[in-house]
Amino acid sequence: MKLATVATQLAPMPMQAPGPPITWNPFRVASTMSSYFAKPLEFVGEHFDRYGDIFQLRLGPGRFFFSRSPEHFHEVLVKKADSFSKGQRSGNVFREGLVALDGDIWRESARAVQPHFSRSAVEGQFETMRRLTRSLLDTCQPGVSVELDQLIARLTLDIVCQTLLAQQMDQNLLDRLLLQLDVVERSVDSFDPIPLWVPTRRHLEFARAFREIDRAVNELVRREQRSEQHTLLSDLVKTMPIHSRRNARKIRDQITALYFGGYRTSAHALVWIWYLLSEHPEVEQKLQEEVDLTLAGKEPTVEDLPRLKYVSAVVTESLRLRSPSHLVERVAKNDVQIGQFTIPAGSEVFLHIYWMQHDPRWYPEPNRFLPERRIESGPAYCPFGIGKRQCIAKGFAIQEISLAVAMMAQRFRVKIAPGFMPDPQTLITYGLRPPVPATLVPRQRTNGRCPVARGVVSAAQSV
Ligand code: HEM
Repeated sequence: MKLATVATQLAPMPMQAPGPPITWNPFRVASTMSSYFAKPLEFVGEHFDRYGDIFQLRLGPGRFFFSRSPEHFHEVLVKKADSFSKGQRSGNVFREGLVALDGDIWRESARAVQPHFSRSAVEGQFETMRRLTRSLLDTCQPGVSVELDQLIARLTLDIVCQTLLAQQMDQNLLDRLLLQLDVVERSVDSFDPIPLWVPTRRHLEFARAFREIDRAVNELVRREQRSEQHTLLSDLVKTMPIHSRRNARKIRDQITALYFGGYRTSAHALVWIWYLLSEHPEVEQKLQEEVDLTLAGKEPTVEDLPRLKYVSAVVTESLRLRSPSHLVERVAKNDVQIGQFTIPAGSEVFLHIYWMQHDPRWYPEPNRFLPERRIESGPAYCPFGIGKRQCIAKGFAIQEISLAVAMMAQRFRVKIAPGFMPDPQTLITYGLRPPVPATLVPRQRTNGRCPVARGVVSAAQSV
C-alpha cells in the first residue's frame, strides 16, 4: 500500500460540528432567533456548555457556526483566512468601509489608510488626544451628575474626527452624529435574518439615520476639500478622485465606518474601565498611586505611557473581561476544514471573543477583574482580532484609552450613581446600556498615596 494512501486512511475524517437538529419550521426558527436576541451571550454560552468548543445552528437554509477555540480562531483568521470573506451583515453597517471590504478593493483601501495608523503617526496624534481629553475634563463640573457614556462618546468621536480628519466638529453636529450612529447600531443586529430592503420599522429607522449621517459626513468631506492639510481623508481623495459619484460614495463610507468603528469601541472600553474601577476600589487606588508617583502632577507625555505599567494592566484586563468586540464574523467561500470539522461553503462562522476570553482553561477565575494576572498576547487574547484583518487602529485605541484613563485618574474619581444596575447591551459592539449616571469627584495628589481612595469619601465631602 502506498504511503500517501496509508496517511489518508490514518487522517481523521472530517466531522459535522455538534448542535441542535436542523429545523425548517418557521416558528422554531423565529423562537431560536428571539432567544438569541433576548440574551445573545447567555444563549451562546449555554450552547458551548452543552456542545463544547464549537457548535452549529441550522435554521432552514442558514448554517451558523460558533467557536470559542483559540485554534479555530487561528485557522479562520490566519491560516485559512483566504477561504473566508467578511459577509453581508457587516456590509449593512460599514457599507464600503474598510472593515467590510474583501480582496483587492480591501488591499487598495488598506494601503491608503494604514500610514495614518503607523506607530509614528499614532504618536504624532498624541498631542491632539491629550488636548481633547484635557478640554473635556476642564468642562466637567465636580459633583454634578453626568451621563458617563455620553461624556466619553463625545470624547472618542471628537478624537477620531480631529486626529484623522483634522476637523473641529461643532457640538451640535457631534451630538446629531452620536444620536444617529446609535440608531444605526440598535436597528441592525449581526443576526437579523430579514434583508435590509424589507421596510420593517427597524429598517426604516436605520435608513433615516443613515441619511442624516451621510449628510453630515458629506459636509465634512466638502470642507476637507477646501483645506490644505494632509489627513487620512485627503489621502483617500488622492487615491479616489472625488468627481465620480461612486468614489464620493466610497469615501463617505470609509469615513462613516471609521467614525462608527473608531468611536464606539473605544467609548465602550472606557466606560467599562470606569465601571470596573468603581466596583474595585483597591484597583482604583493602585492606579491612582501609580499615576501620582510616575507623573508627579504633570500631564502624561508620549514617553510616560509605557511607564504606566498598572494603567496598561488595567486596560488589558478590562479588554479581556469586557471586550467591546464580542465576536468576529466570517462567511466560508468554499467547503473548508476547521479542526476536525467541515464548514460548508456559505456558512457563517462566529468566532466568539467574549467566551474565549472567559474560558477557565486560559484564565482561572475568568469572571474576576484581576489586572495582576499575566496576559499573553495570542489567539486566546484577541480583543482586536488577529491576522491580516485585525484592528488597524490597535495602537491608536490603546494610546487614546490609556491616556484618558491616566488623565482622568489624576484629576477625578468616577463615582457611578448608587443603585445603578449594570445592563450590558450586546449589539455589534458590547457595552453598558446607556445612560450610565456618574459623578466626577475631584481628588488631591499626596505623595503617591491618595486619601480619597483609601476610604470611600462621599461626593458631597470632597466637592
Ligand atoms: C477598544 C477599541 C477597539 C476594539 C476592541 C476594536 C476591535 C476590532 C476588531 C476585533 C477588529 C477586527 C474585525 C474582524 O476581524 O472582522 C477591528 C477592525 C477594525 N477596526 Fe477596530 N477596534 C477598536 C478601536 C478602533 C478604532 C479607534 C478605530 C479607528 C479609529 C478602529 C478601526 C478599525 C478598522 C478600520 C478595522 C478594519 C480593519 C480591516 O479590516 O482591515 N478600531 N477592530
